[in-house]
Amino acid sequence: PKPQEAQEDQECSDFISTLPRGGWGPIRTRKYQGFWVLEIALPSVMTIQKNFKPRPDDLFVVSYPKSGTTWLKAITFATKTRTQYPLSHHPLLSLNPHDCVLNLEECFHKGQASKIEALPSPRILAIHMPYSLLPDSMTSSSCRFVYICRDPKDTLVSMWHFREKTRPKTMEPTPFIEAFEAFCEGTSAVGPMWDHVLEYWRESQRRPEKVLFLKYEEMMDEPVGKVRRLAEFIGCPFSEAEEKGGVVQEIVKLCSFEKLKNLEANKTGTQGGPGMVVTNDSFFRKGGAGDWKNHMSPEMAQRLDGIAQQKLRESGLTL
Ligand code: A3P
Repeated sequence: PKPQEAQEDQECSDFISTLPRGGWGPIRTRKYQGFWVLEIALPSVMTIQKNFKPRPDDLFVVSYPKSGTTWLKAITFATKTRTQYPLSHHPLLSLNPHDCVLNLEECFHKGQASKIEALPSPRILAIHMPYSLLPDSMTSSSCRFVYICRDPKDTLVSMWHFREKTRPKTMEPTPFIEAFEAFCEGTSAVGPMWDHVLEYWRESQRRPEKVLFLKYEEMMDEPVGKVRRLAEFIGCPFSEAEEKGGVVQEIVKLCSFEKLKNLEANKTGTQGGPGMVVTNDSFFRKGGAGDWKNHMSPEMAQRLDGIAQQKLRESGLTL
């Protein structure tokens, strides 16, 4: 880096070192503007706040990590590009969804902001940043957000498995209970989860044309209806001919857990997340709802449900 950049980097890391520290195992977070941001991702979050230039027609896929990001990326990408690529020869058949919809924090982390700049409009991008941390340029422009949330208990279980699978083998495993405590305290990545969810929920109520709020479990129950809703929201509703031709069902099938999990592109290859290498198959573990029952006692579940209920009270949202 040039001398001035090196000085800025130093100032940034000095500042970060003053922030409260949390998280679990090797996944350390720092409390920044009310949220616990992954330590390693914090410089890129700050750069996005300062430098990212959204375009008015940008569409963002947003989630608290492990809430169904991969699935929503696939569905959004397939729906938006369906006239560009025939579904039988779609890029999703040969690329991992994370290669089709790039994550902003990750690109900035790798110094690849130019990759985002080079994408033709309209862009589909992904982000995990909480709504209140987004720069004004994003919240006040006409770009739109599709948000997915999931039962916090399944989200935590999914996150713990993911972190264990991607943990450098030189590091000690994290007992589930340790992750559970950090999650309840809200210090796991981009936590507290309920605040993350609540901010996007409130904005979806205030400005339904700006934020579409989806739930993982409802998408599992009724994928066709949700894909229709998504298509309307992003301004490309299905035509009568498409409906008759079963295009919605085809998209649902293409993006289903079974289909994606078994593709060669998702059984092999890697993604470079901030500070780690992640194999593509790590994004397709078990799928579905209720795996928390295999990891938590009824008391633990009650405690986590209780926290979420209390935080979401009066919001009209249940998780
Ligand atoms: P589990 O670990 O419970 O299996 P994210 O994409 O936000 O990282 O979330 C990952 C979770 O979504 C994992 O949950 C993964 O199995 C599940 N998932 C991935 N692709 C999916 C799909 N097409 N349909 C449903 N769930 C999917």
